[in-house]
Amino acid sequence: MALFPTYPRSDLKPVRGEGPWLWDETGRRYLDFTSGLGVCNLGHAHPRVKEAVREQLDRLWHVSNLFRIPLQETVAGKLAEESGLAFSFFCNSGAEAVEAAIKLARRYGREHKGLERPEVITFHSSFHGRTLATLTATGQTKVKAGFDPLPGGFRHLPYNDTGALDEGLTGNTAAVLLEPVQGEGGVIPANPGFLKRLEERCREKEILLMVDEIQTGMGRTGDLFAFRDFGVRPDVVTLAKGLGNGVPVGAMMGRKGLDRHFGPGSHASTFGGNPLAMAAAHAVLKELTESDILTRAREMGECLDSRLRQRLHSHPAVVDIRGKGFMWGVEMDRPVGPLLPVLKEKGLLAVAAGPRVLRLLPPLVTGEEEIEQAAAIIEDSLQHWEEVDANGSVPRV
Ligand SMILES: Cc1ncc(COP(=O)(O)O)c(C=O)c1O
Repeated sequence: MALFPTYPRSDLKPVRGEGPWLWDETGRRYLDFTSGLGVCNLGHAHPRVKEAVREQLDRLWHVSNLFRIPLQETVAGKLAEESGLAFSFFCNSGAEAVEAAIKLARRYGREHKGLERPEVITFHSSFHGRTLATLTATGQTKVKAGFDPLPGGFRHLPYNDTGALDEGLTGNTAAVLLEPVQGEGGVIPANPGFLKRLEERCREKEILLMVDEIQTGMGRTGDLFAFRDFGVRPDVVTLAKGLGNGVPVGAMMGRKGLDRHFGPGSHASTFGGNPLAMAAAHAVLKELTESDILTRAREMGECLDSRLRQRLHSHPAVVDIRGKGFMWGVEMDRPVGPLLPVLKEKGLLAVAAGPRVLRLLPPLVTGEEEIEQAAAIIEDSLQHWEEVDANGSVPRV
């Protein structure tokens, strides 16, 4: 394989997808509870997105941001309507969206607050990307190993620790960046009281509250944006993953007034917001806001919650079951790595979040029968997993 070995890949080769299902090259079908790492929220090959991208392919793919792109303006307008944030900057990935937010925060810190060394506060166990700035923002040491010297201007506080906010936010703080539910860090929802207090502290000190919705956004937690459910009003929000349902697109949204700090020449991205990506994002937004998919996702999210609890709660290896909507984590008392191939053999694809959390990110179109099937596979696999423990090797299933 002429590829850098950066990913610990399974040997599965998916060749086709539809809704929550993937097929490999032998024709075997798998229930995909990874959604391409929280990307295909509407399911694989969603007809509305497929049609929109196909139509756009026939018309125009790319023109650069030297020209007006009507679809980009429409998508930005729709995002503004739904988020209350007046402006969008489009890019191609999550890390790029967070990078834009960090740059905006630094400009704001300098120009609005007069700071010489504006700092951005993030939280332990957070994940914000793999570029140098975003991995420095990330609150996990494993992503930083060997990549120093790292950029300065970041400090990390304990997540969900209201007491740490009072001293943690200082006169040099330009912005606080957090995930409303930490994804890669182990599916850890913010405590609503913590988020409310953080919002108050940010308002008092004119600190930007920046919410990273790259994993939680676009319906994943049962609302278009998780922050709406928590009742807070961020100044900046980052999006990617589900925004294009598989077509690479990211966005950094900011409130009125922040446009002053991001004028011509301050930031750019060649591909950002091109007509092809915007056709996908537009179709995704229309589907999420015009159909009943979010209502269904909330109902089915409750169904997933209850099936997981019914089948797994009393298992001795299960420490905790937590999540929101279609974003769930099952914390175990041991590493979950060996469980993933067992689930795959039984036809379920899932992913880990940290060493001990099994993460489930099914597409929002997943139905009751499929949820039942997935919960039964996990329960069954845990029996085999006990054999792994006893024998010290992965059983043949
Ligand atoms: C919350 C969060 N922020 C940022 C990122 C980085 O996104 P990308 O991999 O598209 O750069 C991720 C990716 O998992 C994420 O979950």
